[in-house]
Amino acid sequence: MTKPVDLSVQLAPRHKTGLLLKNPVMTASGTFGYGMEYAELFDIQRLGAIVCKGTTLRPRRGNPQVRLVETASGLLNAVGLENVGVGAVIKEKAPIWATWKVPVIINIAGENVREYAQLARRLDGVAGVSALEVNISCPNVAGGGMAFGCSPQAAFEVTAAVREATALPVIVKLTPNVTDITAIAAAAVEAGADALSLINTVVGMAIDLSRRCPLLGNVTGGLSGPAIKPIALHMVYKVSQAVTVPVIGIGGIASASDALEFIMAGASGVQVGTATLANPNAPLEVLEGIERFMREEGVRKLSELVGAAWR
Ligand SMILES: Cc1cc2nc3c(=O)[nH]c(=O)nc-3n(C[C@H](O)[C@H](O)[C@H](O)COP(=O)(O)O)c2cc1C
Repeated sequence: MTKPVDLSVQLAPRHKTGLLLKNPVMTASGTFGYGMEYAELFDIQRLGAIVCKGTTLRPRRGNPQVRLVETASGLLNAVGLENVGVGAVIKEKAPIWATWKVPVIINIAGENVREYAQLARRLDGVAGVSALEVNISCPNVAGGGMAFGCSPQAAFEVTAAVREATALPVIVKLTPNVTDITAIAAAAVEAGADALSLINTVVGMAIDLSRRCPLLGNVTGGLSGPAIKPIALHMVYKVSQAVTVPVIGIGGIASASDALEFIMAGASGVQVGTATLANPNAPLEVLEGIERFMREEGVRKLSELVGAAWR
């Protein structure tokens, strides 16, 4: 008989109720809708958690087309946080999540500190919402977004305001588009973040030769997919050694080996994003592959692998 392996992960050890996941595999915001869209394709309840589309105070229509461009080993997107708004999320989505076993984490984005705090307050105590992921890293919106993730002071202010407005576990999502990500990470932790997730997309662009203009309607977009994995890995490696809270690794994860690289670099959990757009089963395949690796290597607890590659 094969021995059971323990894939569980505590993502918010500093929080009073914690955020205990049965396994480390989550979906990345913006690539898995609100979860329901995928429920018919595979048993989404098997995942560690679902992170839903970025949610704002009011509904947003997003940026003009073109919004998605494929690049070598990657995807450029400039969706611009199109979403139904927090009111509809609370009224229409949360009651369904409340019936699920899998925790749902809401990714929130504001245009200023007050909006982030308002979002956190509205979602506090809503059945079906297990934690907040604070997006201070969206490169595709004019107001707010990435601006908050580019300065330690701004990251501190947003995190502190959200922390004060909610009793939910708070995860802060960082941008790679900075000089020193560890300084931003430290500021978010000091302000009360229970965990950090990184990375959001890397700013980039593409040109249409025949029209002699940028391909994306927004001119620039966020690069994701395999192209950014080495950048993300390095940032997870650095940040996880610099902070005392769990780090969630994101960026180009398409297979269990990708995810295991992040875990050995210091990530306690992982999110699968762009890979799901091409292969909806990707998060489940990542999970099954991690479990298989642990059995083959005789690893009883996932935590034994976290940071195993630190030097
Ligand atoms: C189409 C698309 C939409 C996204 N929307 C959001 C969003 O609403 N909020 C957010 O924090 N990140 C968003 N992201 C970023 C992803 O969650 C993730 O951080 C990034 O894509 C890197 O992971 P990946 O390479 O696995 O996709 C989006 C990414 C894509 C491709």
